Amino acid sequence: MKFDTPATRNPIDRLKVVGHATERIDGPKKTTGTATYAHEQDVPGAAYGWIVGAAIGKGSIRAIDTQAARAAPGVLGVVTAANAGPLGTGAFFVTRALAGPKVDHYHQAVAIVVAETFEQARAAAGLLRVDYARDKGSFDLAQAKEKPPTGQPLQPNPALASRVGDFDKAFAAAPVTLDAAYTTPDHGHAMMEPHATIAAWDGDKLTLWTAIQLVAWGVRDVARTLGIARENIRIVSPYVGGGFGGKGSILADAVLAAVAAKQLGRPVKVALQRALMFNNTTHRAATIQRICIGAGTDGRITAIGHESWSGNLGPRPESATAPTKLLYAGAHRMTRLHVAHLDLPEASAMRAPGETPGMMALEIAMDEMAEKLDMDPVAFRILNDTQVDPETKLPFSRRQLVECLRTGAARFGWDKRAGKPASRREGDWLVGMGVAAAIRGAPVARSAARVTLDGRGHVTVETDMTDIGTGTYTILAQTAAEMLGVGLHQVTVRLGDSRFPEGAGSGGQWGAASSTAGVYAACVKLREMVSKRLGLMSVDAEFTAGRVRAGGLSRPLLDAVAAGELVAQEAMEYGDLARRYAQQTFGAHFAEVAVDIYTGEIRLRRMLAVCAAGRIINPLAARSQILGGMTMGAGAALMEHLVVDKRAGFFVNHDLAGYEVPVHADIPHMDVIFLDEVDATAGPLKAKGVGELGISGVPAAIANAVHHATGIRVRDYPITLDKLL
Ligand code: MOS
Repeated sequence: MKFDTPATRNPIDRLKVVGHATERIDGPKKTTGTATYAHEQDVPGAAYGWIVGAAIGKGSIRAIDTQAARAAPGVLGVVTAANAGPLGTGAFFVTRALAGPKVDHYHQAVAIVVAETFEQARAAAGLLRVDYARDKGSFDLAQAKEKPPTGQPLQPNPALASRVGDFDKAFAAAPVTLDAAYTTPDHGHAMMEPHATIAAWDGDKLTLWTAIQLVAWGVRDVARTLGIARENIRIVSPYVGGGFGGKGSILADAVLAAVAAKQLGRPVKVALQRALMFNNTTHRAATIQRICIGAGTDGRITAIGHESWSGNLGPRPESATAPTKLLYAGAHRMTRLHVAHLDLPEASAMRAPGETPGMMALEIAMDEMAEKLDMDPVAFRILNDTQVDPETKLPFSRRQLVECLRTGAARFGWDKRAGKPASRREGDWLVGMGVAAAIRGAPVARSAARVTLDGRGHVTVETDMTDIGTGTYTILAQTAAEMLGVGLHQVTVRLGDSRFPEGAGSGGQWGAASSTAGVYAACVKLREMVSKRLGLMSVDAEFTAGRVRAGGLSRPLLDAVAAGELVAQEAMEYGDLARRYAQQTFGAHFAEVAVDIYTGEIRLRRMLAVCAAGRIINPLAARSQILGGMTMGAGAALMEHLVVDKRAGFFVNHDLAGYEVPVHADIPHMDVIFLDEVDATAGPLKAKGVGELGISGVPAAIANAVHHATGIRVRDYPITLDKLL
């Protein structure tokens, strides 16, 4: 089914189920511990695998002595590059899952030890003796930027650069200018559920129960890595305990569990130990950014330039300039991205890749410009709004950035913000308020689903789409219930199995809009089948409360399945939609902080997000997504920082004791407002994603509040107290 009639009314618009705050239908299973995550699947006879990570950042393995490990109690086998057979690499995560003889990065797997019990595998792993030869690696982003090992200056990637008008001339001529550098550190996904897989072979058929965001990407990457046919691979991932981009596709746990299970002739289960995750898997790349903004004395931006340097995400840089291409007006523009080669673990996507680090810099820069212009930061942003993409001139499908800023300012009490920095003191605390805009792309992707109406009138939805804690189960049930005129309790949703039709997967904030559209498409087909069986005209049929009405006739839905169940499978596709509209979500974040005048301790006091993201399918789940994004944004502002050992080449703080993320005590009063918005170009649900909008801009709002509280401008994240003293 092709989505090509944006303005059309459809059954979703009745909003009997869609648009209502709905508790998660999978909630009871999760809160009672009966939702089976990858590592909890009941696979009889599964042995336990323990992955050993490389102890060097770059170099090679001279030898691995596995003898003592093999002789240890309960050990069934040890797999290393010497006996693993040929292994390819994935297309999304591109680093090799198993080192040998070369070591590409610290904690890259060098072996998997498999034993009868978890404890035996772990104990035996400690008996491995690995002899390494160290090479000099490139681990320091600033050095790789200034003095690339090639001796040649880094060149921006021409395919990822943009230019409009004459930026250099306009910037030089502008009466008010800012030219500032910002840095953002490496971030870990630090999701609650570790990467985990159980692998089982039946002849040449492989089943992987694994924690993954995009099941179809996993099947593709298993096929590439193991050199087996896609038809022989089944991936099952019904519940995922957080992903944030870190579980986009398969990683070492899946690959090595599969290889070990094949060798041993029995199922193998592997969970990455927490202390291995930060260096073995992927992370958000650190950036160094330079932003130049020129404006007239009236506050209108005339020139805006943004350059960013990062390590490589596969072959790509972190696209930190993405928001600058779209967010503000300005006739003369320039963006450039540079990749510096680093031998650190593979960088990849993490929640709002591009926008998160980009907005951390851009939205401080906007605050600095407002200060130079002696303008209110909200008013400065509103003045520089644009309703067309300033590079391509495409119209935004919906863009309510100004409304977000105005609504937030009113709700937050922005008018009470004392104008001058460091001018509000309460006891030992300096108090300040900050604001930042938010923007995040709202792409849609092809998504298929199968919907079955059985003889009892029960509806089952099946798609390989995942629920990574986001609420997919519930919004797909809402969609089917709305389309077929049944109650939510009459809908069962089955997700995360590659045997089901291929859904959009969870990534890039496209999951909600895309996967509901796939269910919509299948339901449209099922409605036609029902109408045909009932002898009703399908075009104007209304499905309500278990009945189908059309042309003055009304029949029970159940009559349609008296002769047997009906099954409809369909996909939603979008053609060139993305070339006709700039589709983005928008928001405004407000933060109030207090800073201790003696210790520099920063406490968040209040946060508010105002979001415009099309129709909100489930306000309860969407609010939860935004709260999660704001929390992660608070972490990025104040604490999250993978510290690089620049000599040895690894992330030093690779556990949850050293890698600090916000806990409840760090998170103050938070509020979320969704603007009333319906975006008819975003798909049949007229909805857009929110999971990544929630973090975009948050760190800068906090940084700007810290500046307003103290008068100290910190351009290097995280904003820890030492930077204020
Ligand atoms: Mo997201 S970082 O595209 O899962």
